[in-house]
Amino acid sequence: MTNMTTNIGGLKMKNPLITASGTCGYGREMSELFDLSLLGGIAVKGTTLEPRLGNPPPRIAETPSGMLNSVGLQNPGIEAVLTKELPFLSQFDTAVILNIAGHSIEEYGLIAERLDSAANLAAVEINISCPNVKAGGMSFGVDPKVAAQVVSLVKSKTKLPVIAKLTPNVTDITEIAKACEAAGADILALINTVLSMIIDIETRRPLLANGFGGLSGPAIKPLAVRMVWQTAQAVSIPIIGMGGISTAEDAVEFLLAGASAFQIGSINFHNPCAAPQIISGLDRWCDDHGVKNIAELIGAAH
Ligand SMILES: Cc1cc2nc3c(=O)[nH]c(=O)nc-3n(C[C@H](O)[C@H](O)[C@H](O)COP(=O)(O)O)c2cc1C
Repeated sequence: MTNMTTNIGGLKMKNPLITASGTCGYGREMSELFDLSLLGGIAVKGTTLEPRLGNPPPRIAETPSGMLNSVGLQNPGIEAVLTKELPFLSQFDTAVILNIAGHSIEEYGLIAERLDSAANLAAVEINISCPNVKAGGMSFGVDPKVAAQVVSLVKSKTKLPVIAKLTPNVTDITEIAKACEAAGADILALINTVLSMIIDIETRRPLLANGFGGLSGPAIKPLAVRMVWQTAQAVSIPIIGMGGISTAEDAVEFLLAGASAFQIGSINFHNPCAAPQIISGLDRWCDDHGVKNIAELIGAAH
């Protein structure tokens, strides 16, 4: 048995695997398939101040080695999450991470100030990939100053460890990473989905009703590994890596690039039992390679 315990930026987990936001809902469906207490953590669906229906369909499409989504943050709103969803998750011994989203800087603050009342939250993850309505729909996460404002506001409103989840849709992710670190982020998570498009050649129209969608899955893994590598060289706070992880070996690659923990997203749709399989696969891989403590792998490729 390898020591897999992970203690990063105030977030303690029994192993480094977290199921990614938007791919495991609030845990209910997954809990029928395996014991959620096996997970290092669960990052629940992006939650906004008010309930949201999300974008009209079609909003999911398959691509070679990946998928495109424009779900548009469908969620029941923070009140229902605090009163119905988080209490359900309190029966499991896993780190519950609340992913939050907003359409103005103030909205992030209004959600964050309600979080310390939740008994079983381990951390808050800020999705800064959403469109900033006041800035013409530009994502908060593409401007280092705006990203920093969101992080410092959230940080000032909660005692929870703050994870800034970065978008890859930028020229230089290290600029945004450094701004979030300076603004007080405890941990960085990367990457969110890659802005993409599919055109239906029969209708001659974009396939997704929203036009664009976010690409995820194996197709984006090398891009994500590159961004984790670059970010690990630019900041000193811990990194949670993700993007296309489908196997224990993929996870090892992210750890070697400099991530201290990792999330799995799209694979949960393809194989809903992937999480426990990757955790035991990682333990086996470490045994086979003489790794006694998972920490030995972090950044070892640099
Ligand atoms: C259907 C779907 C919904 C998602 N919803 C969210 C969300 O609400 N908040 C968020 O930060 N990321 C969201 N993501 C992004 C994932 O958490 C993850 O960053 C991305 O999919 C890359 O990981 P993967 O390649 O393992 O899927 C979503 C992804 C998918 C596929």
